Amino acid sequence: MLDNRPTLPPEIARRRTFAIIAHPDAGKTTLTEKFLLFGGAIQMAGQVRAKGEARRTRSDFIKMEQDRGISVSASAMSFDYREFRFNLVDTPGHSDFSEDTYRTLTAVDAAIMVIDGAKGVESQTRKLFEVCRLRDLPILTFCNKMDREARDTFEIIDEIQENLAIDVAPASWPIGSGREFLGCYDILNDRLELMDRADRNRVAETIEIKGLDDPKLAQHVPAGMLAQLREELEMARELLPAFDRKAFLEGHMTPIWFGSAINSFGVKELMDGIGNYGPEPQPQPTASRKVAPEETPVTGVVFKVQANMDPKHRDRVAFIRLASGHFERGMKLLHVRSKKPMAVSNPVLFLAADRELAEEAWAGDIIGIPNHGQLRIGDALTEGEDLRFTGIPSFAPELLRGVRAADPMKAKHLEKALMQFAEEGAAKVFKPMIGSGFIVGVVGALQFDVLASRIEQEYALPVRFEASQFTSARWVAGPKAEMDKFLNVNKGHIAHDHDGDVVYLTRLQWDIDRIQRDYPELKLTATKEML
Ligand code: G4P
Repeated sequence: MLDNRPTLPPEIARRRTFAIIAHPDAGKTTLTEKFLLFGGAIQMAGQVRAKGEARRTRSDFIKMEQDRGISVSASAMSFDYREFRFNLVDTPGHSDFSEDTYRTLTAVDAAIMVIDGAKGVESQTRKLFEVCRLRDLPILTFCNKMDREARDTFEIIDEIQENLAIDVAPASWPIGSGREFLGCYDILNDRLELMDRADRNRVAETIEIKGLDDPKLAQHVPAGMLAQLREELEMARELLPAFDRKAFLEGHMTPIWFGSAINSFGVKELMDGIGNYGPEPQPQPTASRKVAPEETPVTGVVFKVQANMDPKHRDRVAFIRLASGHFERGMKLLHVRSKKPMAVSNPVLFLAADRELAEEAWAGDIIGIPNHGQLRIGDALTEGEDLRFTGIPSFAPELLRGVRAADPMKAKHLEKALMQFAEEGAAKVFKPMIGSGFIVGVVGALQFDVLASRIEQEYALPVRFEASQFTSARWVAGPKAEMDKFLNVNKGHIAHDHDGDVVYLTRLQWDIDRIQRDYPELKLTATKEML
């Protein structure tokens, strides 16, 4: 098998760790559900998202997510499909939680981009795609809802190519759309796939075809549609690139499948696509070197922390992407930041149905480690090596507000709650140098509601958010002398984040430009890599 890596141990080579990115409503939940169905992880469709009920997937753990019907936090699900082990890392679809999504995307080796056949590339698709591009993640595209009136196939492909500046190679080609949608011609395997409209959970009928001149085609496709299919495929061959696995793995080309998730159509072909062509676990970058998955010592990095998954226990679960090795339960690993050993005795593997204790895991897998707050985003676990994984960003918040406990006597409690959420990465918390109180920064306004509701539920502490005089935050770093000078004259604008790092708060871009000019040795950044 062609690959950009030396041969991996079979257990690692069969792993595919990926996420699904989509604009809300494109069909991500439905597709996830069908994946679990065909991966044998659930028995029937409808278990993931009950119709009519608040929308929730099995990957949503906390009550608030269910109450609100949105998926607030990302989690992971593992299941087998054919000879492959899929680790599907769930990303929240709501744009207000994009920061979490960005971090999630650092833990995967590939992404599936779902677009709605009638709507094409939408705003959130584009944003998420750009994040994938930062890391040259291979992307497979699924054009969904072909059972509804969809746009012209060439138009959809053109839009992706133009909008996202990536080559698109058709893996399948739709035959009709809307009521007329019959199925697809599978370009990669020369097969005809016919959609079964009677049973939504049944896999499509597959008919082997020997090329486009095979008389069998005419038995299944009406003459007019067949003529159109032949014409379109001929044009596609001339105008569009053929699938090239190397270009795909390098992130320059995306294969596109057409289908209808709700009708289970095109889903297996997509799953086969990830299995057959998708990347194996990839080397992970650290400050000193790249860690290859086949290295024997176990290493991993925390890309997400979720607190209070079980309200009865004040536990947190740190989600770790294993970068190398074969992990076994009970192993003692080094927690690199604190330099302390950590016995990992109760790791959790997120099998689709339940949380289960992980007896073992391999490079590429996602495991959860319950802990009491020692594990933070960006932390490395190793068998002794001093490693610092890179690439996990922390974003400058776009909205800032002051926060106060409704009961002023509870200020200490509030601080504790805020620190916890800051460590989880759910918000930025800044303590101004002058004055009391805190300023909370988020990327999307809905996060304030989520925070208020979590603080009230988890800490029995009603809080109020109020307008802040600041609108932007920048991390500041530089040589000590210059930094001291800067701090001295800007006290009213300075705060510290939960790690103690210096942050400059302002409402004017002009201020930021001025400081950059006046203090050329200081670096003002909108993001900070989480250490
Ligand atoms: P999301 O997670 O990306 O937000 O999307 P989700 O899967 O929840 O799907 C959004 C809507 O699109 C749902 O309809 C879903 O049933 C529908 N849908 C998904 N795949 C297909 C498809 O292949 N064809 C068609 N025609 N519709 C599809 P809804 O009306 O919002 O919910 P419901 O009443 O169906 O539960």
